[in-house]
Amino acid sequence: MNAAIPLTQRLAGKVALITGGASGIGACTAKLFVKHGAKVIVADVQDQLGRSLCQEIGPAETVFDVHCDVTCDSDVQNAVDTAISKYGKLDIMFSNAGVHGEMESRIILSDNTNFKRVFDVNVYGAFLAAKHAARVMIPAKTGCIIFTSSVASVVSEEISHAYVASKHAVVGLANNLCVELGQYGIRVNCISPFGVATPMLQKGLGIMEKRKVEELVSSAANLKGVVLEAEDIAEAALYLGSDDSKYVSGINLVVDGGYSITNPSFGMVFKSHLSSTHPSQN
Ligand SMILES: NC(=O)c1ccc[n+]([C@@H]2O[C@H](COP(=O)([O-])OP(=O)(O)OC[C@H]3O[C@@H](n4cnc5c(N)ncnc54)[C@H](O)[C@@H]3O)[C@@H](O)[C@H]2O)c1
Repeated sequence: MNAAIPLTQRLAGKVALITGGASGIGACTAKLFVKHGAKVIVADVQDQLGRSLCQEIGPAETVFDVHCDVTCDSDVQNAVDTAISKYGKLDIMFSNAGVHGEMESRIILSDNTNFKRVFDVNVYGAFLAAKHAARVMIPAKTGCIIFTSSVASVVSEEISHAYVASKHAVVGLANNLCVELGQYGIRVNCISPFGVATPMLQKGLGIMEKRKVEELVSSAANLKGVVLEAEDIAEAALYLGSDDSKYVSGINLVVDGGYSITNPSFGMVFKSHLSSTHPSQN
């Protein structure tokens, strides 16, 4: 790391665009990026929320919002062009906008329209974000693209096929981009969070109380004694967006407290067997 840059300004001089930046993980990242000296553009479909968030974070010269539906090519083009016209460059594209879609996990009952919609936002939206970022990063011969995938890209369980497949696709897209764009000095990485109590998960679970969602997620977690928060994902984005990770490209940074490498099935069966055969030991 450049010794001249204080620890509190890890993105000093950088320009970042965050899709899905009005809420949850994106909003937290916008706050952290500004705190670390970046100029930030919040690109989202929730205009009111995006505007009030930006006003809360800092002055309009430092952070502002643009209306951007990531499934619309001209919206994404406009968001990137706004970064260029305002700041002359784009250093970080954080392609984070996403939808969960229906909760139904059974293939036969899965809705076709939902599948297409989830892919439209999560995959086509990520593709457009990368395409327009690359358009301005390639001539600059520098830049960094970060995608929000999900722990669903590395574990399979009762989550909708549309969501799981879309998050796998995001990792595939990131890997391919990493290989193509490395020659231009552009780094491409993914972040894959475990459950975070954001409006997306709260709505999905039908539990609007953040603390209850955190309790539920924590009870399923591998790592105990801590709660995964949007700020933790923002910290991962800060690392991948800063020069601290200047040689890191092509990784899927799974922020799940080890959840994806556990498999409790055998232990549960074994414990249940022991309690039935040796009840006194339990
Ligand atoms: N919360 C979790 O548990 C969790 C876990 C793993 C991955 N993720 C991923 O994290 C990302 C952020 O989600 P979050 O949890 O912060 O949820 P969130 O709902 O708080 O934020 C998502 C944001 O994306 C925006 N968005 C949705 N469709 C859009 C579109 N077409 N164009 C532009 N913006 C759009 C929404 O308006 C919202 O502001 C998503 O990609 C999600 O899949 C979340």
